[in-house]
Order: sequence, then C-alpha cells, then structure tokens
Amino acid sequence: MTRAMTVGEALRTATQRLRASGSRSPRLDAELLLAAVLGVERADLLRAPERWLDEEVVARFERVVRRREAREPVAYIRGRRAFRTLDLEVTPDVLIPRPETETVVEVALELLAAPGAGEWHEPLVLDVGTGSGCIALALAAENPYVHVVASDVSPAALAVARRNAARHGLEARVELVAADVFDGVPPGPYDLIVSNPPYVPDDEYARLEPNVREYEPEIALRGGRDGLDVVQRLVDGAPPLLRPGGALVLEVGQGQAEVVAALLAADGRYGPAMVRADLAGVARVVAARRASGTAADLPGEEPWP
Ligand SMILES: C[S@@+](CC[C@H](N)C(=O)[O-])C[C@H]1O[C@@H](n2cnc3c(N)ncnc32)[C@H](O)[C@@H]1O
Repeated sequence: MTRAMTVGEALRTATQRLRASGSRSPRLDAELLLAAVLGVERADLLRAPERWLDEEVVARFERVVRRREAREPVAYIRGRRAFRTLDLEVTPDVLIPRPETETVVEVALELLAAPGAGEWHEPLVLDVGTGSGCIALALAAENPYVHVVASDVSPAALAVARRNAARHGLEARVELVAADVFDGVPPGPYDLIVSNPPYVPDDEYARLEPNVREYEPEIALRGGRDGLDVVQRLVDGAPPLLRPGGALVLEVGQGQAEVVAALLAADGRYGPAMVRADLAGVARVVAARRASGTAADLPGEEPWP
C-alpha cells in the first residue's frame, strides 16, 4: 500500500532504506531516482521539499527504490549518466562511464592541442572499446575539428553509442565500427588511439562489488589472468596505425600503470611513456607517442603537455 507524501518525506524514507541496503550514497541515489520518476532535474526537486506526491508517483518511486535496494546501479535505473559536458544514455549493454575516464579525455585533448598538433587540421582519433561512446563523443564535443572512429566488439554497445551520437548531433564526426581490437578498423593513420579497455584481472573480477559484477557487462570489465590481454593487443597493434608522433592513450587499473609503461618501453616502437593521475590521485592514464624514424616527421614529439 502506498500513500501520498511530500518530497521531503519520500526522500527521507528512501534514504534510510538505501543506506540499510548498503548504498554508499543513499541520499544522492534517492534524489536522482525521485527526480527521474518526476521527470525533473535534481535541483528542481530540492527546491520543493514540501511538494505533495500522489499515490501513483509514490508507487513508481517505490518500484525504483526496490531496484536500487537490490544493488542495481542508479545509472541503469535512470537510463542516463553525465560524462564531461554530455548527458548519455546508458543501458546494461554498456559500462557506466566513470569519473576517472574523464582523465583519458583530458589527456587526449591536451595531446591534440600540443605544439606540433596545429598541423593536424582535422585530427583523426580511434577509440577502441567505445561502449556508450563516452570518450569518442566527449572528444568530438570538445574539439570541433576532431573526427573519431569509435569501435567495439559488442553490437549492442555500438547501438547505444549510435543513439548517443545522434542525441548530441555528432554522427557526422563519429563513425561507429564493429571490430575486435584493431581487426576491422579503418587503417588510419590516426593522430591518437585512445582506449579504456577491459582491464580487471580474473581473480579481482570475482571480488567486484555486486552492483558492478551482477549488472555491468563482463566483456567490458574482464581483462584475462593479469587484466592485460586487451592492453597487450593494443600496445602490439597500435604503431602501424599511428602516424609518426601520434600517441596511444590508455586507461589502466589501479596498480597497473608501471606495468603498462614497461610494456610500452619494452616494445621499442614508442617514445617515453607519461602517466597521469585521476582526481582521486590514482595513476590512471598511460600514454606514449609512436617514435618516428627521422627528425623530419616529428610533429608533436615535443615533451608531454
Ligand atoms: C571498460 S569498457 C569501456 C567503455 C567506454 N569506452 C568507457 O570508457 O566507459 C571496455 C569496452 O571494450 C569493449 N571490448 C571488450 N573486448 C573488446 C575487443 N576485443 N575489441 C573491441 N572492444 C572490446 C567492451 O564491449 C566495452 O564496451
């Protein structure tokens, strides 16, 4: 049985329940879910705590709170997630874009703007494993000259990325392709290859929190025994697709940055690796330019931005 109640009361009750069910952000979850049920923004909701919710709205809120109590991620319940300047559709076919992945976009934008990059009037970027399209679409949204080839092995993920490209009017500059790492992508040459690949080692996957393991796609997370199966394929396959001076930019898991920098160094076809921390201070992005043979073809081989 449900009864009419105010916004404030509904939020208080839901917050208590979500805290008891293990949510780390119970009040925020409750606000986001009630705003979604009402079709308003969270800020509008918070301005009107005395507003009355009728029984039908309370019943709909009850249903989404139950889903959250079962640890379903808020982003899947709402079907939306903010990423940099974009509001993206997310479904269980795609990884929910994470705040730390915004650092990948930051590094990629800096590289595109670095000295020497001015010669690349319309830079071409490849985003491997695009998922929701978050990295590809953020780059296209924030750099009006860039063209992106966004690939994924999952047709269901590509369908979500396609809808997100249309939602933001970026279809003309973001081409979506089905590919297994580099098998199936156009040959480039690319100014940047970016990727947030699956990188969770098998033993850690078993220990992931239930809201991740039970709801997000396994193929987006699992990276094999040491987590580096796809990373190694990216390091091995990127140089022939990169123009000289072009860079490979990879998101890595906590504790993987040194290992990935060592893989790049051992390869012999890359210049020095740079490592960038995310906002939580975790070494999160590893990037290296393709080394070039002669001084004449060194656009962008200046020190890291
Ligand atoms: C960690 S998710 C990243 C998604 C999105 N780029 C983001 O940052 O939120 C990894 C993505 O790589 C895709 N993927 C996994 N294996 C792949 C492969 N062999 N080739 C291409 N894409 C792959 C998954 O389908 C998933 O969309």
